[in-house]
Amino acid sequence: MIYFDNSATTIPEQEVLQTFTQASLMYYANPASLHQAGNKADQLLESARKQVATLCSDPESTVTFTSGGTEANNLSIIGYANSLKHRGNHIITTEIEHDSIRNACLYLREDGFEVDFLTVNENGKVDPEELRKLIRKDTILVSIMHINNEIGTIQPIEACSRVIREFSRAIFHSDCVQSLGKLELPFPKWVDAVTCSAHKIHGLKGTGCLVTKKFKEPQAISYGGGQEHGYRSGTANVAGAAAFAKAVRISMAENSTSTYERWNKELRDCVKGEKLVRVLSPETGAPHILTLAFKGITGEVAVNFFQKHDIMISTSSACSSKANKVSHVIQAIHVPDDFSKGVIRISFGRMNTEQDIQMLSQTMNEFLKTIKKGLKQHDLE
Ligand SMILES: Cc1ncc(COP(=O)(O)O)c(C=O)c1O
Repeated sequence: MIYFDNSATTIPEQEVLQTFTQASLMYYANPASLHQAGNKADQLLESARKQVATLCSDPESTVTFTSGGTEANNLSIIGYANSLKHRGNHIITTEIEHDSIRNACLYLREDGFEVDFLTVNENGKVDPEELRKLIRKDTILVSIMHINNEIGTIQPIEACSRVIREFSRAIFHSDCVQSLGKLELPFPKWVDAVTCSAHKIHGLKGTGCLVTKKFKEPQAISYGGGQEHGYRSGTANVAGAAAFAKAVRISMAENSTSTYERWNKELRDCVKGEKLVRVLSPETGAPHILTLAFKGITGEVAVNFFQKHDIMISTSSACSSKANKVSHVIQAIHVPDDFSKGVIRISFGRMNTEQDIQMLSQTMNEFLKTIKKGLKQHDLE
């Protein structure tokens, strides 16, 4: 199998699995227990926390381990809204966030908070000027993702941060699930909190974290025994935290950017000049994501074609692929109707090889020939 759906999830790294297995067997005690075995598990947990904080550029930051990006995003959006509601009830996010931000914001809107969604241009980019117009003294939280998971847009986090800091005391959160290990994180210089997830960086599913500046932590959103320094209750996943720290370390030591850029260009060249294909990913976007839209077919047809050649790709996002609807991101960038249902996303990971890319390019050429044959002449003009 050739796997090009790395933005949906990645294959776990052997070393990460080894860390998980060893830690599960050797440090299985509950880190909250008073005995020696509990202490040892606690030491491993705290050392994983320190490692993640240090790798995220701020050893003093607060790392709250969660069950992944979705939970960390919920903790950030709902947790900050609740802890800052004495200062205001205005929240700003974008039209193209992952559902875990979007739906948490919609929930808060139902609950009485005022939420504004920044629009994006055809490249999926927000305009800091629009943010300047929307931001208010009572804005308590702004959340803007670093790299968009469906089309790879990189947002102008630094420019947005300057606006936020000039006009408000709002917390600035960024969903960095797609940028961890790929781009330098905007934390702690430009944002106050970032969301990370392990399974996008060859770590394990069900692990991730919210990293926040010290003394800027959100209120807990679930209640229990007060683990994770009170921010996230539940018996700690010590082995998961250790494996996550390992995955972050490995991914940060990697530099595949130039390889991904070359592969991205090679595929763009395959479809260049084709009237029935639109490249939705901006040229200045993250090179590991390339999203294309085909005229007159559905993304599902394309996914099946590539699958027959043992190549796994995705429709715009794994989350929206089963829903069989045009995703909110594709709608927000105004893809014309005759292209909007034919979206596919190709996403590279560090296990991909040159041979994989060759197979993908060949299959792309065959796919183009096949759909041209199947379409009527006026569709191709
Ligand atoms: C940008 C972004 N945020 C959040 C998530 C959710 O992460 P998780 O699957 O770890 O809950 C994803 C996963 O697709 C994502 O791409």
